[in-house]
Amino acid sequence: MRSLPFLFGCLAAVLSPVSAASNSSDPLLSKQILPAFKPPQVFRNTNLVRNVNLEKGYPRETINVVVENIADKPQDEYYVPFKPSVIARVGGFEVRDKKDPEKPAFQAEIVEFDPVSQSSVEFYRVKLPQPLKPSEQQTLSISYSVLSVLEPLPAQIEQRDKQYVLYSFSAYAPSAYTTQKQKTKLKFLNADVPDYTTLPSPNADNPEDPTRQGSSFTYGPYNDIPAGVEEPVSVRFEFTKPLTHAKRLERDVEISHWGGNLATEERYWLTNRGAQLKNHFSRVQWQMTVYASPPTSALTQLRMPLEAGSVDAYFTDDIGNVSTSRFTATQRGSQLDVRPRYPVFGGWNYSFRVGWNGDLGRYLKKLATGDGYILRVPFLEGPKSSEGIEYERVELRVILPEGAKNVHFETTVPIISNETSLHRTFMDTVGRTSLKLTALNLNDEWRGRDLIVTYDYPYLEGFRKPLTITAAFVALFAVWWALGTVDTSIGAPRPKVKA
Ligand SMILES: *[C@@H]1O[C@H](CO)[C@@H](O)[C@H](O)[C@H]1NC(C)=O
Ligand SMILES: *[C@@H]1O[C@H](CO)[C@@H](O)[C@H](O)[C@H]1NC(C)=O
Ligand SMILES: *[C@@H]1O[C@H](CO)[C@@H](O)[C@H](O)[C@H]1NC(C)=O
Ligand SMILES: *[C@@H]1O[C@H](CO)[C@@H](O)[C@H](O)[C@H]1NC(C)=O
Repeated sequence: MRSLPFLFGCLAAVLSPVSAASNSSDPLLSKQILPAFKPPQVFRNTNLVRNVNLEKGYPRETINVVVENIADKPQDEYYVPFKPSVIARVGGFEVRDKKDPEKPAFQAEIVEFDPVSQSSVEFYRVKLPQPLKPSEQQTLSISYSVLSVLEPLPAQIEQRDKQYVLYSFSAYAPSAYTTQKQKTKLKFLNADVPDYTTLPSPNADNPEDPTRQGSSFTYGPYNDIPAGVEEPVSVRFEFTKPLTHAKRLERDVEISHWGGNLATEERYWLTNRGAQLKNHFSRVQWQMTVYASPPTSALTQLRMPLEAGSVDAYFTDDIGNVSTSRFTATQRGSQLDVRPRYPVFGGWNYSFRVGWNGDLGRYLKKLATGDGYILRVPFLEGPKSSEGIEYERVELRVILPEGAKNVHFETTVPIISNETSLHRTFMDTVGRTSLKLTALNLNDEWRGRDLIVTYDYPYLEGFRKPLTITAAFVALFAVWWALGTVDTSIGAPRPKVKA
């Protein structure tokens, strides 16, 4: 019974073309604004190791820090400061107990202090699940990524040149407290790091700062750095891969109880943030090297692993069906390989739409009693690659069947808004319940996270769609029959109308 809903899906897709304009008036952050405030100095970081991974198109930072309560009362609020320009690009901020990483992440939210005096710092406020007693210690693992910060330098290159990018940051970890001992470790893609800031050696053991070891650098160790102090440094390193940035991803998951189908459609607005071409693109030169496939800063392919059992994949862009894609489905999983029509070099955009169907039984369970259902879908699917992809804005919409009620959801992805509304499609009578979730600053590493949705769907509602369609056919038949009984044949004698 997949073919009918699929057909209607196609019809609906034809009837509602996507607008390829990204909405730049959407707000970028949701945050809580508090009156003027400075985090109370109730903690001390006794030891801190910060790891900055630069192997992907966005830096990923993990700060492992031993914090100590130096106040005389138990404390449960720990603050992490960022400049406003940075905090708007920080994504996937999570804090866990380093000694117990399987436990759920701690509650964390952005708070902004003192907007009147244009404070130069904003904070994430982390709530420790158990208050830390005076002079006790706890090890936190703070992780996040920063979007749109690697800058190509030079900003323009030749088609076959290597690409270099610049990253500027502070050699001291962001901290709202005094840090007794800390170091910052950098991990690059390779050892090709032509430029980097050198600092005066912090102690006699290190002849130089940073210390280099192949593709790893270490700044520090530094002792007794006060709260909020920065030491600006920058590194310039080879990164001949695309800096794939999704300005927007709209992902729709549509459930059809009647067809036993789960239809997914994703619409992407991509930009390559990499270096721009110095000269015009030469297709001849491109074709000459395409078989050797040397490293390139252009985006040429997106590999999308899909859940096992996915079928009927399609890939269209602004021009139409793109035939250069490949879809493979095996028992263990499916994969959609999307090849843009042209190599997407730095500064170029590419928008497209992909979709596929899945067997609803793999995603949906009926609760043993009552009318309740529980749905589990990935929050994010999308491309997987060594250089990664960053998402500035993700809008996930789950379209439930007509008549679904009592919708609740759960996800570990940090979302900034949720909205439940009615969504009308082809042949709907009352409209379908749809749940829309928005998240900012995600990246491909969030692929594994689930969205769980529960809802009630009374048994009789299942007949609504077939009845609607039957009713439509009955109506059509009645019209046809009515037309058939009236003599409309051309040239038939018309009744004369008397004046
Ligand atoms: C952008 O968003 C605003 C407010 O959310 C809305 O009024 C406007 O219609 C949207 N524009 C587009 C092109 O989607
Ligand atoms: C779209 O392209 C695929 C190949 O990727 C092809 O199998 C399919 O028939 C095409 N569909 C249409 C409607 O042209
Ligand atoms: C890419 O899109 C942005 C806006 O989203 C636009 O400003 C820019 O000019 C586009 N680039 C190209 C090469 O069309
Ligand atoms: C959904 O949004 C409402 C406000 O619109 C908020 O009160 C509620 O906590 C949100 N639910 C979740 C699970 O985030």
